[in-house]
Amino acid sequence: MKQDILARKLERIDDLPSIPSMVFEAVHLLHQPDITVERLTSSIQLDQAIVSKILRLVNSSFYGFQGRIGNLSQALVLLGFNAVRNAILSISILDIFSDLGKDFDSRLFWLHAIGTGVICQVMGHQLKYPRVENLFVAGLLHDIGKLVIIKLFPEDFFKILKEVREKDISIIEAERAVLGMDHTEIGYRMAEKWKLPQEIQEALGFHHCPWNAKENRAMSATVCLSNCLCRALDIGCGGDALVPEIDPKVLTILGIEPLFIAGCLEDIDLEMERAKSFLTIFNENELRSPS
Ligand SMILES: [Fe+2]
Ligand SMILES: [Fe+2]
Repeated sequence: MKQDILARKLERIDDLPSIPSMVFEAVHLLHQPDITVERLTSSIQLDQAIVSKILRLVNSSFYGFQGRIGNLSQALVLLGFNAVRNAILSISILDIFSDLGKDFDSRLFWLHAIGTGVICQVMGHQLKYPRVENLFVAGLLHDIGKLVIIKLFPEDFFKILKEVREKDISIIEAERAVLGMDHTEIGYRMAEKWKLPQEIQEALGFHHCPWNAKENRAMSATVCLSNCLCRALDIGCGGDALVPEIDPKVLTILGIEPLFIAGCLEDIDLEMERAKSFLTIFNENELRSPS
């Protein structure tokens, strides 16, 4: 790949729309120790599209609350600030990718993304991980680099899929061959641009080689393991038919035995059923017509 072509591609990636400034303000506020529900509500309420999506999310069976939650302050109290922060971030990031053309089956992609998020969450609880909410977001967004490829370079994307089929190679190898970079490098770049927490940036960048992470290897390793498991359980599709093998180094980083994975399966099944309603929130058509 010629350097100038690669540079032009990187420029187009950097030009992708950013998250609305309200989101940054709300995320910043959510980090303040003395923030009140009222102050936060008045900031988020400036963006009614996001408010309506948060309310739909909080009323979906993903959260399983009894009765209808009718306003944002109630949602903030019930969900907790971290969950709201992650919902706002996810909604606004996924909004950027709501229009990917009809040749791409975004449903299978989001199913893989949500599946990986849910498995991360289940494992995070079992491992007593302190920021399970961040783990869910890291799992949900781990392959976002693939969406950048589809959105900006659709022709390259179809060439990548062809390479995968014809040469029986992994999607990451095909991306490097066709595009000169892969979805993990693009994901890291986007997460940096979006100012996501450092550990989430790393998980996007190192979910295929978590031993290279510096800030939080355990998070990258959990996303790596969850991605493999999601593929093995045939939840959604990540672009190729290969089921990645679990590298023993990943288990060493997490300090677990293979038996740990078997112990998570029942919870994964249960959580996956509930999480499917999360999918409808991010479904392409739903995004275009918030109720
Ligand atoms: Fe990936
Ligand atoms: Fe994946």
